[in-house]
Amino acid sequence: MYHKPTTKTLMENQIRHHLVLIPPPFHGHLTPMLQLASILHSKGFSITIAHTYFNSPNPSNYPNFNFLPYFDGLSNTQITSKNFIDITSTLNTKCESPLKETLVHYIAKLANQKHEKIACIIYDGLLHFIDSVAKELKIPSIVFRTTSATNFLTYHACAQLQSKGYLPLQDSKSCDLVPELDLLRFKDLPIFNLPNPDDFLQNSAKTLSITPFGVIFNTVDSLEDSSLNQLQQLYKVNIFPIGPLHMIADDSNNSKSILRENHNCISWLNNKARKSVLYVSLGSIASWEEKELTEVACGLANSKQNFLWVIRPETVKDVSAWLQSLSEDVKVGIAERGCVVKWAPQGEVLAHEAVGGFWSHCGWNSTLESLCEGVPIICQPSFGDQRVNTRLLSHVWKVGLEWCNVILRDEIERVVRRLMVNQEGEEMRQRASELKHEIRLAVNGSSCDALDGLVKCILSVNV
Ligand code: UDX
Repeated sequence: MYHKPTTKTLMENQIRHHLVLIPPPFHGHLTPMLQLASILHSKGFSITIAHTYFNSPNPSNYPNFNFLPYFDGLSNTQITSKNFIDITSTLNTKCESPLKETLVHYIAKLANQKHEKIACIIYDGLLHFIDSVAKELKIPSIVFRTTSATNFLTYHACAQLQSKGYLPLQDSKSCDLVPELDLLRFKDLPIFNLPNPDDFLQNSAKTLSITPFGVIFNTVDSLEDSSLNQLQQLYKVNIFPIGPLHMIADDSNNSKSILRENHNCISWLNNKARKSVLYVSLGSIASWEEKELTEVACGLANSKQNFLWVIRPETVKDVSAWLQSLSEDVKVGIAERGCVVKWAPQGEVLAHEAVGGFWSHCGWNSTLESLCEGVPIICQPSFGDQRVNTRLLSHVWKVGLEWCNVILRDEIERVVRRLMVNQEGEEMRQRASELKHEIRLAVNGSSCDALDGLVKCILSVNV
């Protein structure tokens, strides 16, 4: 039994300090930033979210926060393409002045109307341009990294590898361990197989800088203690592992997904046996190509296991028509054992007792959400930090099956049965259940202490 940390503020009887939090416009980054905001609000801070117009959060979902849009410089083509790297790069090159101007006006307004000043800017490390904005405005800033601490360490390692002449990485060495990163292989690095590793390295050099006040991670000390210790030694700044944020944040703010969730799948799950359903979702960015989708449909149907499958609208134009185009036996399999939705209430799904496994791309939010509910994972990483998370899940925590990405129906049927039917899967479920309890203890333990440390740090630079 765990209890949420008390919302008793560390700042009772004091003036409210104002924080500005700045997320990038991507679901997997926006959600944890809003959760962090909700936690800091419960500690007594006033909160403003500065955001782009593209993918902006809905203010009516967050009545306790102020929202401050700034000009994002994104073209319609970029918005339609939803290209993560391109959008991030545009924000970093075009938004410094617009954000600074917006903040200057806002600072004046806060001073005049509320006699408040901004105590600290907390920004997502992807948006490294904010470092200079904060410095120019003489406002303390803290970086928030929404991926794992281990993933952040790999950025550092990639820079080292470059200076030691290891790049470009050799395919023949892909399974060798990376020097100084004892648990990762070359093929687990975000840089592996990238068409332009130099661009990545240039960018990560900028994101590697950490503000002197420290860095916040959405993680748990006991899950990543070795990486957190290494980072502490490298940077010698405060490191605040405050996670899993979705467990610590006020529940009322937790289910405010920016996409519409289909709750019918919960009624569908209610009629399924305990631990009998595989939940299938690749998060908000990664997807299967249309020909792979057919293989996935056949593999899932042939596995004879129950499955709840998220197919986002941009993956296939007309999902119903596509489902109708499948062969008769696959259609019957899906009708008997499957449920297909465009977007699910993932937190509720993973917490449902009918769910016994997750086929995931291993984004960090999905990874943490699954660990918190004791659900083991078939890991199909796609890009960036997902390979690092896969290695942690399969090799370190032993609650994930690292799966070769050959999207063929027989392979899929086999891996689904390994997780859902075989003894191997049962052992992983057992281990996942133990980890779940460990993580929940940290919510009131190490993560709660780190949160108090963060609050004290912000207050100490604003005395
Ligand atoms: C991106 C990157 O891909 C990921 O690697 C990085 O760690 C964070 O940014 P994304 O791909 O969206 O994120 O993956 P993930 O981090 O797993 O976040 C997905 C979020 O969407 C989760 O919070 C999940 O609960 C939510 N989700 C997903 C839903 O609410 N419903 C769905 O149907 C699918």
